[in-house]
Formats: sequence, structure tokens, C-alpha cells
Amino acid sequence: KHCRLIGAPIQDGTGRRGCEMGPSAFRAAGIAEALLGLGHRVTDLGNVAPLTVETAVHPNPALKHLPQVAGWTAALAQAAYDASADPDGLPVFMGGDHSMAAGTLTGLARRAAESDRKLFVLWLDAHSDFHTLDTTESGNLHGVPMAYAIGKPGFDGYFPTPLATVNPRNICMMGIRSVDPAERVMPEDSGITVHDMRKIDEYGIAPLLRAFLQRVHKANGLLHVSLDVDFLEPGIAPGVGTTVPGGATFREAHLIMEMLYETGLVSSVDLAELNPFLDERGRTATLLVDLLASLMGRRVLDYPTRSFA
Ligand code: ARG
Ligand code: MN
Ligand code: MN
Ligand code: MN
Repeated sequence: KHCRLIGAPIQDGTGRRGCEMGPSAFRAAGIAEALLGLGHRVTDLGNVAPLTVETAVHPNPALKHLPQVAGWTAALAQAAYDASADPDGLPVFMGGDHSMAAGTLTGLARRAAESDRKLFVLWLDAHSDFHTLDTTESGNLHGVPMAYAIGKPGFDGYFPTPLATVNPRNICMMGIRSVDPAERVMPEDSGITVHDMRKIDEYGIAPLLRAFLQRVHKANGLLHVSLDVDFLEPGIAPGVGTTVPGGATFREAHLIMEMLYETGLVSSVDLAELNPFLDERGRTATLLVDLLASLMGRRVLDYPTRSFA
């Protein structure tokens, strides 16, 4: 694969400063070297810069940095569209807080639509990030990208018009364990598949993930993986501003990545919410690089490629 690294140093969407250093921390943790060591081609495209966009003043007084996040969304949507032109490539978007996904998802959705493919999204997160501009109480815009990306109303005039939207039926959320009252039921009402921690505990990660991957495979879909650091158990991944206890374990996270690799379906990745200011001696950045390496083929023993026939 030709891996293209794209830095998205946005922190305007989160309440805690530090995510701006995310792309640098991924580079310091050896993200390029890890991919090169697995035989991939790697191009580091550097960091995206936000655009300046005009946004109307929103009636919700809680909203923080709305024009800035709108400017990042416009820039990242274009960057994601551009970086996904090569069908054999794999863009890796290094965040930056999770509001980056407003841009990456809509840019990738446009690319998929133009390629006559369906875009599927595996959303690995403690949170559903399904607020609208009207429902968020924290005002932190990393809580809204999923609602924006599926085209929920209320963003018009405040965020850029999406280049394209993602069909909620092609989205699977895993690891969910913190949902605000206003976000509740909404994801599932929209047709999104939601596997919260309760379901993962009962059934295990593998069968839930396998069912989704089967759907992607049957549809010849493109698969974007959006990994929020807080998907993971805080004890193994402290470098994030929104830790929630009860996250995915080291072994669950690697299993997901290995299954993804074996199916060969992944076409792009977001690494979101890494906050190096809160990290301990780079261990969260290093864990994320190791997870990406598992996703791109690192293993102890070789397993056959999974076929769905
Ligand atoms: N739901 C909460 C809020 O709106 C937390 C969102 C956390 N999102 C994230 N990408 N870490 O403030
Ligand atoms: Mn998130
Ligand atoms: Mn989260
Ligand atoms: Mn496996």
C-alpha cells in the first residue's frame, strides 16, 4: 500500500489544549518507520492548514470556536478527497481532536460517490459524537462530527455544506459507553449499528466486527476506520482529554486491527484525540502506532487472509 500521512493539528473542537501536538507525536513515535518496516510505501504530506470561512452566529451560546472548526472542516474535507484519489493508497489522518472527522468523512464520502463505491465507517469511540449544534451542552465541537457527516439538519450556514454525506446504514460504532441524553437513541434511529460496551462484553468483539466486515465485503465497499483514543481503556491510553473507564483492552484493540488487516478492506484511517500534553512518556502515541501497524500487517505468526465466500 501507498500510505499517505496527513496531519490534522486541530484542537479547537475539544475543551483541553494539546491535540494540536498530535501529528508531531505520531511522527516522533515512528509512524512512518513502522509502516515502512512492513513493506509499505510512505509519503508524509505534512499538516493541513485550516481555511478561513464565514459562519453565521449560532443561537446556541455554548458553542466554542465554531468558525475555526468550520474552517478546519472545509480544509480537511478537501484534503481527504484529494488524498483518496489513489485506489491503492491508504490515507492516514493524524489528529487532532475528533471534529477532524467532519472533514475526513465528508471528503471520503465524495470520493466514494464519484468512484461508484459505498463508503462504510467503523467508528471506534467511547462516544457517539452525535450532537447537533443545537443539542451540545459542552459546546465542544468534537461532539458533533457524526451528526454532520450523515447530513443531520442544523449545520447549514454554520458548517460548510458537506461535499457528500455518509449513509448511516453503512456505519458501525463500537466501544460506545458515554452518550449524552440528547444523543441517546438518535444513532440507532438513524440506522447506525451501535455496539456499546455492554454488547461487546456479552458477545465479544470478533463476531460483532465480522458481521459488519461481511457487509462491507458484499457491497465491495470502501472502509474508513475512525479511531478515537478514548475507545481504549484509560489505563493503557492516558493521552486523551475525554477518558471514560471500561474501554477496549489492549488485546481487543489489536484483535480488531488484525481482523481488519486480514480482510484487506480498509481504505483510510483517522487517528483522533491523541493529546501528547496528557500522555505519559509517549506511551499512548506508541500504542496508536502499534495498533496502526497491526492494521497494516504486523503479526507474530502468519494467518491466512480471511475470505467471506
Ligand atoms: N458528548 C460529550 C460532549 O459533547 C463528549 C464528546 C467527546 N467527543 C470526543 N470526540 N472525544 O461534550
Ligand atoms: Mn470521538
Ligand atoms: Mn470519544
Ligand atoms: Mn483474526
